[in-house]
This record gives sequence, C-alpha cells and structure tokens, in this order.
Amino acid sequence: MQESRVTYLESVDGLNSYLRKNFSKSSSIIFVDSNVSSEYIFDENFNTHEILVNEETKNITTVEKIWEIMHSNSVTRSTNVICIGGGVLCDVVGFATSTYKRGANLVLIPTTLLAMVDASHGGKNGVNNNYGKNQIGTFYLPSEVLVCVEFLNSLDKEEINTGLIEVIKAGFIGNNKILELVYGDDSVYSDKNLLQLAIDVKTKITKEDLKESNKRMYLNFGHTIGHLIESDSNYQISHGQAVGIGILIALEISEKEYNLNQSYRKNYMTFLNNSGLKSHYKFKKTRSELITILSNDKKVNNEKINFVLLEEIEKPILKEIDIEQAMELIINE
Ligand SMILES: NC(=O)c1ccc[n+]([C@@H]2O[C@H](COP(=O)([O-])OP(=O)(O)OC[C@H]3O[C@@H](n4cnc5c(N)ncnc54)[C@H](O)[C@@H]3O)[C@@H](O)[C@H]2O)c1
Repeated sequence: MQESRVTYLESVDGLNSYLRKNFSKSSSIIFVDSNVSSEYIFDENFNTHEILVNEETKNITTVEKIWEIMHSNSVTRSTNVICIGGGVLCDVVGFATSTYKRGANLVLIPTTLLAMVDASHGGKNGVNNNYGKNQIGTFYLPSEVLVCVEFLNSLDKEEINTGLIEVIKAGFIGNNKILELVYGDDSVYSDKNLLQLAIDVKTKITKEDLKESNKRMYLNFGHTIGHLIESDSNYQISHGQAVGIGILIALEISEKEYNLNQSYRKNYMTFLNNSGLKSHYKFKKTRSELITILSNDKKVNNEKINFVLLEEIEKPILKEIDIEQAMELIINE
C-alpha cells in the first residue's frame, strides 16, 4: 500500500525552506487556514489562498469554493495541493483534492496537535452535512505530511488538551511508552519523539486497515462515548474533554470485561485532574434519546455497537455489544 512520508521540521522558516526546495512554485497551490496565516509568515511567492474554516463551514459549500479556486488556477492531477491548517482544513482540502479531476498530489501540513498526530495521517477526509459529521468523504492518502512543531506555540490550552487526549489514546491502544512520557512532563506535547511515537501507532494501524474494516476501529477508543457526550451536551463539552471522559469509561468497562489492571485508569485520572480536564459527565438526555444518537452513529450495525475496549495495555479489542446493553454500561457509570 502507498504510504505518506512524514518529515519533522522545527520552525516555520525551516518549513518555508523545505517547500522552496521540494516543490516548484509553478506547479503548486497552497490552501492555508486564515487563523494560521495571521500568526505565521509564509513564502509569498507561492500561489497561496487563505480559507476561513470551522466545524460549521466544514461542508460542501467550502469544498465548492476550493474546487472553484482549483479550476481558476488550472490545477491538474500533477499539481501539488498543499494544505496548511488544523484537522478541519486538512479534511476539507483532502476531500476537495481527492475529487477534483480525481486527485492531485496532496501534501498536508498540520498546524494543531490533533492534526499532527491524528487527522493528517491515514487518508481519511470528509465534510459534514445533514446526515452528520464527516459523512461525506473519501480515503485519499497525502504523499507527504510535514510536521512543524512551531505551530503549536500559538495554540490555546484547550486545543493542546484535545490533541493530548489523542496522543494518550495512541498510548493505550499501541504504545505504553507514550503514557509514561505524557504523565511525566506537561510540556512534552511538542517533543518530536513523542509525536513520532503517536503517529507511528496511527500509521501502523491504518497501513493494515486503510478502509476501517476492522483494526482501524481501534482508533475509536474512547470516541463512542465521547461523541455521545458531545452530542448530549449540545457541543458545550469540547471534543477533547468528551473523548477524555470516554476513554475513562472505556477503561472502567475494560476492567469489568477483561480484568484490565486498575492502575491504568488511576494514573490516567490523575493526569486528567492535573490537566484541569473533566473526569465525569452526567447525561441530560433520556435513555431512549441517547439510544437514538447511538443508532445514528457510524459505529452501529444491526442494533449492535462496536465498542473498543482493552484486553490489556496495547491490546485493543472490538467488542460488539447490543445497544441496550451498551446503555446499561454507559448510564450506570
Ligand atoms: N481525517 C481524520 O482521520 C481525522 C481524525 C481526527 C479528527 N479529524 C477532524 O479534525 C477536526 C478537528 O481538528 P482540529 O482539532 O485541528 O480543529 P480545527 O482545524 O478546527 O482547529 C482548531 C482551531 O485552531 C485554529 N488553528 C489551527 N492551527 C492553529 C495554530 N497553529 N495556531 C492558532 N490557531 C490555529 C483553527 O483555525 C481553528 O479555529 C474535526 O473536524 C475532525 O472531524 C479528522
């Protein structure tokens, strides 16, 4: 299977030099998140377009705007489409690139911690619509992912925490060393070695199962309950906070189902408390409303829900539970 090359760069100056050296200006187009272009200086000789995106504008209208820019700039399949932005822009530009003339060369430059360790790897892209989040999309691997840690300097704590939760998730499902590093030092999130370990967990899984037929679902560890919390709170609880609590509940269920050592949950709880992240959530919706939300979730098939649990540290397992039984586990926490 094709793989994305991952390159680490310390500074935006270094990134600019890398782009000048490796991509011809005449055959490249850059889409940059406008919140990023207001913070950093990029080489103005590249054909660059600022895009203002957020979860509300992560939709087909924004994709059409990008297609329009591609058309008026004569993008072809041999153009390098370079995206500099968070997970939202990477998903939108990835989708627009994979579909415009059936695909140009995609280069992702993630600017949030979540995008660096998660969203820019593994080839998934997509947009939101009436059917739900990320319901329209393709699998389309970038040829390169350029990880530049200087971008982390302008992120707020909430964004760092959201990314850190995904780093921790990678630790639970794929490499315990990650947990030791994160628990040991609260500024370690910008450490290249840590990022690399987390990225390795994701790319190893997606290499084996690009189209999410089995192992890729492990990456949903903590997310089933996390999405339920986000939805129940009307998105007042952030994705990071919600998945953070989702992981805690998944660890508790893993203890019940597989006798997972309690120390993993206790250490994780200490981390959540020390980082000011929530460790509890009280659902507001009724049981049947929650079941409806779970039934609309992508992880549900024939009234069964695929839960990711841990048999052991680094040993995720998919457990198919019927929705009623899942509700018992979630509500009784
Ligand atoms: N494709 C995948 O495999 C995958 C995986 C996980 C998440 N996602 C998607 O990623 C999205 C979330 O991504 P996100 O958390 O990066 O959010 P985001 O892209 O919305 O970025 C968060 C905010 O930070 C701003 N920003 C980005 N980089 C910045 C920087 N360096 N300095 C200051 N501000 C900056 C953005 O403009 C935005 O306002 C979701 O839509 C989710 O569906 C995709």
